[in-house]
Amino acid sequence: MAEHTIQFDLTPERKLKPKSEELGFGKVFTDHMFVMDYTEGQGWHNPRITPYQPLTLDPSSMVFHYGQSVFEGLKAYMTEDNRILLFRPERNFQRLNRSNERLCIPELDEELALEALKQLILTEKEWIPNAEGTSLYIRPFIISTEPFLGVAPSSQYKFIIILSPVGSYYKEGIHPVKILVESEFVRAVAGGTGEAKTAGNYASSLKAQEVASRKEYSQVLWLDGLEKKYIEEVGSMNVFFKINGEIITPALNGSILEGITRNSVIELLKHWGMPVAERRISMEEIREAYKSGQLEEAFGTGTAAVISPIGEFFWNGEKMTVNQGATGPTAKKLYDTITSIQNGKEPDPFNWVVEVDQYITAK
Ligand code: COI
Repeated sequence: MAEHTIQFDLTPERKLKPKSEELGFGKVFTDHMFVMDYTEGQGWHNPRITPYQPLTLDPSSMVFHYGQSVFEGLKAYMTEDNRILLFRPERNFQRLNRSNERLCIPELDEELALEALKQLILTEKEWIPNAEGTSLYIRPFIISTEPFLGVAPSSQYKFIIILSPVGSYYKEGIHPVKILVESEFVRAVAGGTGEAKTAGNYASSLKAQEVASRKEYSQVLWLDGLEKKYIEEVGSMNVFFKINGEIITPALNGSILEGITRNSVIELLKHWGMPVAERRISMEEIREAYKSGQLEEAFGTGTAAVISPIGEFFWNGEKMTVNQGATGPTAKKLYDTITSIQNGKEPDPFNWVVEVDQYITAK
C-alpha cells in the first residue's frame, strides 16, 4: 500500500446535479477534486480531496509557457445494481507515467493514484449518472508549477483529478461522422511527443480541426509527419478499417497514442476469432479498397466516444463513402459489447472491469 494518507476537506455546499438527458461532454464538474503536490527533494506529498475550486498559480508557472503537462481520460459507471465500475484504470496510470517520462515529469505512485481516484469517486458517487450512454468522466492531469521562465523541467508540480458527469462526446453519438483527410498539417512525428498524452499534441491539432469544421467535416484523419502517406489517428482517437473481412489498425510507431480502447478492440476481435492486423496502412490502400468495393467499415476508438463510426472520407478532391454512410456491424458490435462490459451488463471475460468499493481500505 502507498504510505501517503489522503486528507479530506469536504464542502457542505453541494451543487445542483444536471439531468441525465441534458448531459454533454466536460462542461459540468463535481463538488470535489483530488490534489497532490510535488517539490524537488520532497517528492509527491500532501494528497488531499478538497472542494472543486479555481487554482491560484503564479503567472510565471512553467506550464503556462512551455506546456509541460500530461493528462489521462477514463470513466466510472454506475451499474443497474448500484456498483461503481472503472474500466482498466491501471492502464491509464501506467500510460500517465509513460507520458511523465517523456515530458520529464517525476513518476507517480500508480497505486496511490488509483487509491486516490477510488476515494474521490466514492466521495462523489451521487454524481455518477446511470442513464443509457452516460458516465462519470475522469480527468487526471499534471501541471508544472515552478515560477521560472528558464526552459528546463520544473521542480514543482501538481497532480489533480477532476470529475465530470457526461453524455456522448460527439453530438452524432454512435452515428457515423464525416472525415477530412489532412494533407497539410500533421499531428505528430516519430521521436516527438505523439505517443504521450500531453497538452501540446491537442493544441497543435486545433488548426486542422478548425479548417475541417468550416468545411462541415467532424474530424480530420491524420497522416504520418514524414511522407504524409500513412494513416495515424482520427481526430483524438485511434482508427480502424475493415477491408475484405480483415480489421486493420495502424501499428504503434512512436507517434501514435497507445489507446486503451484500441487495445480492448484488438483483444475483443481476437476473442471473436476475427482477423485483425496492426500494420502500416496508407491512404492509397484505403482508396484502392474503396474503388474495389472492399472498404467495408472504418471507425475511431477512444475513451470519450468509445467507438465512432466513419461514414465518409474526403481525400485529394475525392469523396469516399463507407458502408453507405451507415454504422457497420463490427463497429456496432464493438460499441455494444464494450459499453455493456463497462456498465456491468455483460460478463467481463478479460477482467477489465474494476469495482471501486472492493479495493477501498477502511478510513
Ligand atoms: C478520447 O478519445 O478519450 C480522447 O482522447 C478525447 C479527449 C481528449 C476528450
